[in-house]
Amino acid sequence: MTAPAPTGVLHPEALAGQIAVVTGAARGIGAVVALELARGGADLALFDLDEPSATAEAVQAMGRKAHAERLDVTDRAAVETSIGALSRVDVVVTSAGVYGEPTPVADIDDADMDRVLGVNLKGALWTIRAALPALRRAGGRVVCLGSAAGEVGGIASGPQYVASKGAIHAMVKWLARMEAANGVAANAVAPGAVETNMIAGRGYSGDYCPLGRLATAQDIATVIAFLASPHAAYMTGTVVDVNGGFHMG
Ligand SMILES: NC(=O)c1ccc[n+]([C@@H]2O[C@H](COP(=O)([O-])OP(=O)(O)OC[C@H]3O[C@@H](n4cnc5c(N)ncnc54)[C@H](O)[C@@H]3O)[C@@H](O)[C@H]2O)c1
Repeated sequence: MTAPAPTGVLHPEALAGQIAVVTGAARGIGAVVALELARGGADLALFDLDEPSATAEAVQAMGRKAHAERLDVTDRAAVETSIGALSRVDVVVTSAGVYGEPTPVADIDDADMDRVLGVNLKGALWTIRAALPALRRAGGRVVCLGSAAGEVGGIASGPQYVASKGAIHAMVKWLARMEAANGVAANAVAPGAVETNMIAGRGYSGDYCPLGRLATAQDIATVIAFLASPHAAYMTGTVVDVNGGFHMG
């Protein structure tokens, strides 16, 4: 078993003067990403269905500015109003997401498909779309939360979740192609099983992967921070596996 990633992957000036948008920032991976980007010198605009002010306070305690706002990423008009109003955006990380239960095929229904695709896929797209004018001005970077589930058909999740994450991987490649000429880079991170609320109580254990432990949110945030930074200047359109060896390439 290897040790979890340490904090502070970025040079403390790597994102100096930059503004990073993080959705799903109230908890889990999104909250840790916010801290990691703040360690790299960024100021944060934090959005979540739940109040993300605790994350904002933690960012402010590190000497960075943070805006915290409740926002449902499935509400396209609200996303356009809140994120579209930001005059500067250098980084967008889409971490807002919901789980999809391993539903037997006969029980799949419209409501569950719409719920999961609505947040995981469309919510990410609305977020990126709203930020795109500012991202183009900044020559910015997008990092989307995909999943190993979208590559291998899931560990224990259902078809709605698997489809939403596979679609994210495809969308990031589309975005990378479309926006390269505008100076915007887009990548996805595909975690394996991460110790957050999302999988708590669902029977996941470290046995799922060769490294023999669940990922921490920090393990994932470390890689996201790298992809969000100028250190990853020549990376776009990739899906980066962070899965303890569960799925190899
Ligand atoms: N935990 C894992 O094992 C795992 C594995 C692979 C990928 N992911 C992905 O990573 C991302 C973060 O997941 P996590 O593990 O931190 O889960 P989490 O449940 O701890 O956090 C998800 C956050 O998204 C927010 N959210 C949900 N619906 C929203 C909406 N409509 N609008 C705005 N915010 C909303 C929640 O309030 C929550 O704060 C998700 O996209 C998830 O699919 C997680």
